[in-house]
Parts: sequence; C-alpha cells; structure tokens
Amino acid sequence: MTMTPRAMGTSVRRVDGPEKAIGCALYAADHAAVDAVHLYPVLSTVPRGRVLSVDTAAAAELPGVLCVLTSENAERMADTSDREWTVLQDRDIDFRGQIVAAVLAHSAEVARQAAGLVAVDYEEAPFRARFDEASGELFTPELLNLNHHTDTTDGDVDAGLGAAAVTVDEVYRTAMTHPNPMEPHAAVALWRPDGAAPRLTVHDTTQSVTATRANIARLIGLDEDDIEVLCPHVGGGFGSKGNSHAHLFLTVLAARAVPGRPVRFALTREQMYTLVGYRTPTVQRVRLAASAEGRLTAITHDVVQQTARYKTFGEQTAVYSRSMYAAPARRTSHRLDPLDVPVPTWMRAPGECPGSFAAEVAMDELAVACGLDPIELRLRNEPDVDPENGKPFSSRNLVACLKRGAERFAWHTRRQEPRSDLRDGWWHGTGLAACAFPTMRLRSSTATIRYRAGHYAVAIAAADLGTGARTALTQIAADALDVGVEQIELSIGDTAAGPATVGGASSGTASWGATIVDAAERFRDKYGEHPDDGDEADGTTPDNPWAEEYSMHAYGAHFAEVAVHADTGEVRVPRMLGVFAAGRILNPATARSQFLGGMTMGLSMALHEESVLDPRFGHVVNHDLAGYHVATSADVGQMDAEWIDEDDPYVNPMGAKGIGEIGIVGAAAAIANAASHATGIRVRSTPLKVEHFL
Ligand code: MOS
Repeated sequence: MTMTPRAMGTSVRRVDGPEKAIGCALYAADHAAVDAVHLYPVLSTVPRGRVLSVDTAAAAELPGVLCVLTSENAERMADTSDREWTVLQDRDIDFRGQIVAAVLAHSAEVARQAAGLVAVDYEEAPFRARFDEASGELFTPELLNLNHHTDTTDGDVDAGLGAAAVTVDEVYRTAMTHPNPMEPHAAVALWRPDGAAPRLTVHDTTQSVTATRANIARLIGLDEDDIEVLCPHVGGGFGSKGNSHAHLFLTVLAARAVPGRPVRFALTREQMYTLVGYRTPTVQRVRLAASAEGRLTAITHDVVQQTARYKTFGEQTAVYSRSMYAAPARRTSHRLDPLDVPVPTWMRAPGECPGSFAAEVAMDELAVACGLDPIELRLRNEPDVDPENGKPFSSRNLVACLKRGAERFAWHTRRQEPRSDLRDGWWHGTGLAACAFPTMRLRSSTATIRYRAGHYAVAIAAADLGTGARTALTQIAADALDVGVEQIELSIGDTAAGPATVGGASSGTASWGATIVDAAERFRDKYGEHPDDGDEADGTTPDNPWAEEYSMHAYGAHFAEVAVHADTGEVRVPRMLGVFAAGRILNPATARSQFLGGMTMGLSMALHEESVLDPRFGHVVNHDLAGYHVATSADVGQMDAEWIDEDDPYVNPMGAKGIGEIGIVGAAAAIANAASHATGIRVRSTPLKVEHFL
C-alpha cells in the first residue's frame, strides 16, 4: 500500500508531552494504592555458595512487617529452567547481589529497615570474578544474541592477510557498563482472590508487556489470559527492560503471598547494579590488511567477553565487521568467559556499539598507516553489495553521510598531522567514525482500530521508552487512515491489545507501524472513508516481501572535536556532529532527540562509563550515580544531529528505519580517533582516561 505522508515527516508535538510535563503520567511504581504492600529484598553478600540459614525473627517482629519470604516459604515456580528468573527456589548462590530473601511491609521504609535485620548465614564456595581473555574456561556459545552465529569465515583470510602491504593488528577493550535509565526498574503486582478476573495484574516497567506476560505465565504456571500487564510509560530502558529480570518474578511471588493487595517493588539504583543486567566488557582483536592504496584484503575480528556461569548471554560484538566494509576475506569469532557474576544483557546497540568501537578505531589506524584521510579510506572500501550475504542494500548512504558531515564539519580544514594544534594548553584534534545498525521488522504484533464519533481508537501493545514512539505511531496511523492526527487515539502498553513485539533492536516503530498500516488497510477496505460508530478491524505484522532480497541497515557518520589538556590529560569534547541515513524520518523533533541521546550515550561511553568490578568480592563497587559517571550537560559541547533524505521503498510501508540505537554506534570511536589526532596517543579502550594522555 502506498501512503501519502502528511503527518509522517512533520514534527508533531509529543502526544504524551503535556501529561508527562504536569506529572500525571503514571509509571510502574506509581501504581501503588494506599493499601499497597512494599517489598524490599535481601541480597547475597557472597558471590558463590549456599544459604545455610536465614534468621527472619528480628525482621518479622518489626511493627508493619507482614512476612519475610525465603527459599523455605516462597511458592514453587512451575518452570525453573532459567536461573536468572527463578528467585527463592533453592539455596544456591550464583553471584553477589542475588535475591536471597524479601520483606513485605506496610511501608517502604519499614520493609527496608526489616531487610537489614534479616541475618543470612552462608556456606561460601570458591568463585571467579576476574574477567580474563586468556581464561582456560573460555567457551563458544551455541548462538549469540538474536541468533547470530558465533564464528564466520568468508574468503581466504590467510591469503588476504599475507597479501597485505599494510596491516593493523591491535587489541581493543570496552568497559563493562550499566544501563541507568531515569526510571529504575519497578513492578507492582496484584493477585486477585479466587473468582476475580484477571487473576493477576502487573504494572511493570518494560519494553514489552507481551514478553512480561508470557514469562510470568510460564514461570508461575498460569494461563496468559489470567494475566494483564500494563506499561503505558517507560522512563528509559536501554535494553535492560527488554527482557524480564528476577525482581519481576519475586514481585509476583510476593503478590501471591498477600492476595488482594498490590505488592510494590521499586529497585534502588544500587540494586540495579546486580539485578537487571549490563553491557559485557569486551576484548577485541582486530586485524585489518590492506593494499598500499588502502583497499582492504582481509578483516578479522575476534572477541572475548564475559558472561555468567549460571546463564549465558553472548553479545554479537563482531557482527558489525561482517558487513560493513568490502574486504574479500573476513573472519569473526566470539568466546565467552563464564564468571560468578550477574548475567549481562542488552544495552543500547548490543554488539554494534562495542564492536564498532574496535572496528572504527582500527579503520582510523589503517588510514594513518596508509597515509590516507579516514574518509577516503572508507570510500575506497565501500561495498557494492552486503559482503556477508551478497545481497544488494535496500539503501546505503554511508558515503553521503560522510560527505555531508565533512562539509558541515569543515573537515577540509583539518591538518592530517596529529599533535599539531596546541592552543591555550589544550591539544585539539578531530576524528570521525562510520556507523550502521540493522533495520529489522519483528513479527508478530496485532493492532486494532475502532471508530467512534469521528475518532479512531488504535490499540497496540507497543512500548514508548520516552523516545516518542507513541507520537510516531499516531502519525503513522493518521496517514494510514488518511485522517488528521487529532482523530487518532492511540493506546499502547496494555496486553489487552493482543501481542506486540519488543521495543528493542530499533525495531519497534517499524514493526508496530507496519502492523498499524495493515490494520488501517483492512479497516478502509471494510468500511471505506465513512465508517460508522463501532466499526472495527484488526491487523497483524505483514511479512516484508523484500526481507530476503535486500540487506537493510541504517548508516551514519560521526564527527568529533576533542581537546586534551596538555598537562592534566583531561579530555573534553567541544563539538560532535552525527549525520544519519535512516530512511524517512517520521518525526524530526523526536528523531533528533533520539540521535542526540545516542550520541550523548556514546560520549558517556568514551569519557566516563565504567562499572568497576572488584574481583576479590565479585561486585561492582561504583554502584550508584556518584561513582558511576554518566555524561551530563556539562560534558556536552556543541552537539548536532542531522540526516540526509533517504527514500527506501523496501523496509516498510513508512519507508522508515529504526533510529533508537544507531546514534551510539561509532560515537565513542569518533571521540577516541579525535583524541588520537589531538595528541598522537592512540587509546584503544573505553573509557578514555586522564592517565592515557600523561
Ligand atoms: Mo535495545 S538494547 O535493543 O532494547
């Protein structure tokens, strides 16, 4: 179907802006009625071993305490196959900070105080919490996140390496980092007495109410129809709310212990550092082999990362190098080091973000080694088709992004010589990096459109992580129905709307949007342009007929100016520019925020973010916003994002590519490359530190 873009492409103001601005948008933890029961967990203080005993007597005596849940009295789960989710089902300790008990009380304060009175006796077992890329325990998981293969070889890598006139062979490291959405993880669960429906209502802060419901149903052994999950607003997720975590199931177990009363569990910032996942640290060896003119003959990208012993998460770190540049021979591999620590998870552009740091810094090193401008090097290695699968690109405008960015950034004024611009005690330099992120459409969502009194109620169980998805979907619905946005009443984040895919992998708006377009088509086929009250149609996510024909990604180019203090090594980023090619930009205002947010997170990764795991104790010591630094306004200089017009008829009816993650991909590499240009010092790890430049 062809849609006439009227609302799409315009900066429609956020439809939920007013309710958020005046504070009446309710987030998960806000759904605690006056009779709520508050939960506070007791977390293990040892990284591995067994709980010998839990003394709950002092806690239980505190006025206001209802009960203390332990592995002795907590209800058994129907499915205990996932050790991250099975909370209070046995006495085994897999990591420090694991839930070993929970207090339910009339107030959050009493629950917290009582939790401090619970005495746990442990039998400690030997553990290992020091990530080691040479560990004897390294293993190859079956598949990586999103079912990517761990190892790939294309072409004759040895020949490619052997034929090279110029080689870069370096090891890059990215830090373990934790997601810090403004809204910490939280759940409120209400278990209704027999006979009432639904049996269970859960307010969860999640990127997918559908997944939350399915996971609860499976673990608790309930029918999905007996559960409703609601999440109209999410205060940031960055992937950590893309899948469920132990606290959700604990909240549900607790609700079953106090039927008829909502149980509220709002994690503290500190608890998020053990319970909701993180970005794994990586060690990445990248080899780039090229002719003297800088034409790649081989790329190898071998990754070691950390996972948990009790559950495997393998990030697709090197996937970026499989399709980015036109090397005739490519090899990638992933190995995991299993530690007695919490399991990693998705964090904004899992894979592409850390992988692009290594790949794009290596490309910068190759440019220097070949005596080429880094833009020219990339132009010389621009593939005609996707090197990984030989498919043509549905659209690939990396070159246009590089050229547009060069123009905007006045790249031609750059002196190629590093360490050549010292002003007022600061070394100045500029750098760039390319970026890409796959364009995905996930199945299967459903959407319903119902007409009443001049308005179209559109329901889909989508998630808006604060990004503006709700607004963009409203625009899509308006154009698909050929009506004004003021006639659309969109509701999201409610399992009553039927299943919907996750707000993740930058696939949300594209997948849900295609579903709404399908519903709109059916609606208009059935009722024409003059529907009657009560007219209703459902839609589902259509398959993309082009999915097998074309390789689909968004692309972009980051430009950064960095100043490094000659005496103190302090790094500043006075200027960043991102130019993106991401199909039709549905809402320029919210898209700009998305891009800038991603770039800011990349800046944060480059300069600050590092979870410092103390291997002696197995926990992250800087587990709060005082110790774990996230970029603030003071870190951000002049930052701008723009995009080129890109018409891609293959990705979806809207012509839009996902934009939630591409802003972070490559951003830290551009900064590291600029720092190298400024100082002549090559930093191959994140975050960049003062001591690197002294
Ligand atoms: Mo995003 S890390 O795919 O939720």
